[in-house]
Amino acid sequence: MSDIAITLCSKPKPKTPDDALRFGTVFTDHMFVMDYLEGRGWHSPRVVPYQPFELDPATAVLHYAQAVFDGLKAFRGVDGVIRLFRPRKHAERLNRSCERMCIPPLDPDMVVRSFHALIEVDNAWVPSKRGTALYLRPTVIASEPFLGVRAAKNYIYFLILSPVGPYYAEGIKPVKILVADHNVRAVEGGVGDAKTGGNYAASLSAQAEAERAGYTQVLWLDGVHRKYLDEVGSMNIMVKIAGEVATPPLSGTILPGVTRDSILSLMRDWGLKVSERPIAIDEVMAAARNGTLEEMWGTGTAAVVSPVGQLGYKGEKVVINNGEAGPLTRRLYDAITDIQYGLTNDVHHWTEPVVLAKQRRIA
Ligand SMILES: Cc1ncc(COP(=O)(O)O)c(C=O)c1O
Repeated sequence: MSDIAITLCSKPKPKTPDDALRFGTVFTDHMFVMDYLEGRGWHSPRVVPYQPFELDPATAVLHYAQAVFDGLKAFRGVDGVIRLFRPRKHAERLNRSCERMCIPPLDPDMVVRSFHALIEVDNAWVPSKRGTALYLRPTVIASEPFLGVRAAKNYIYFLILSPVGPYYAEGIKPVKILVADHNVRAVEGGVGDAKTGGNYAASLSAQAEAERAGYTQVLWLDGVHRKYLDEVGSMNIMVKIAGEVATPPLSGTILPGVTRDSILSLMRDWGLKVSERPIAIDEVMAAARNGTLEEMWGTGTAAVVSPVGQLGYKGEKVVINNGEAGPLTRRLYDAITDIQYGLTNDVHHWTEPVVLAKQRRIA
């Protein structure tokens, strides 16, 4: 693998102040790109000025959605150090998504190097205010122009960066969730455990329906029985019922969330009773009615934890923990964000500092 060539942009863009940052609207000055050609493999890793792609209208990804992505964050700590949160785990998940979508695997070390290389060039874009972060979006698309359903012969790996604002500007806010009882997100044997664009496109109509009914997001049930919890919006779901924390097992229909994994580890460290098991929606509704549903929350890179304050299912509405974030939800949020901002000892070695060496200008 050749070294990473760097071409700097001639005119850096003005930066958005930390206070004005939202999610996914501002992009940094550069991007990382690498190409794949059948017979040659992945080659020409490079950092270039952020720019549009020119794609032939027949490009495979535009027709058959052969594409994967991932999403992770880097944080500027109180000590000024920029830390990536579990970059290797995200690189490995990207590769598992590639495998499912018939995309040639990437070298996970190269993927992690791309994170470091691009952040190094655009390090001035990493915001500082607590709650802000730099979101990384590594993506792979089939770039061969052809019509016909088969795996493409050419691909592009690219990485873009977006400084993002705090998910909770005014404190952790619980959301109202509608249980989707006819649309499903995934089935076993499908692609629910891969991070591929079609899963998100397929979720939009149920999401729009939930919004029309006054809810924020959808709780997905399993695609076979319409009975067991799968995920909430684009987050993994956890419930605390009568002292036990439960979350659905990784059975192929849900994305193996990095936040899910981190939170399960923390709760096990703390000696809590934690189960990965099927959770029936009837069990959750019954627990809500009899007062044993203590807390319920989603987990994901964007929000870390997102408490569920209200649940609607088949015309019935239940309120959880008086519609407020529960104590365990808050404890988990604080524990994860303290690690991300370098405020506490990272005993699991989840963070990886970005070392800022002297930048090279090669082209
Ligand atoms: C469908 C889906 N489930 C769960 C998650 C949470 O995963 P993570 O904690 O790795 O962000 C995400 C976000 O990436 C997602 O898109």
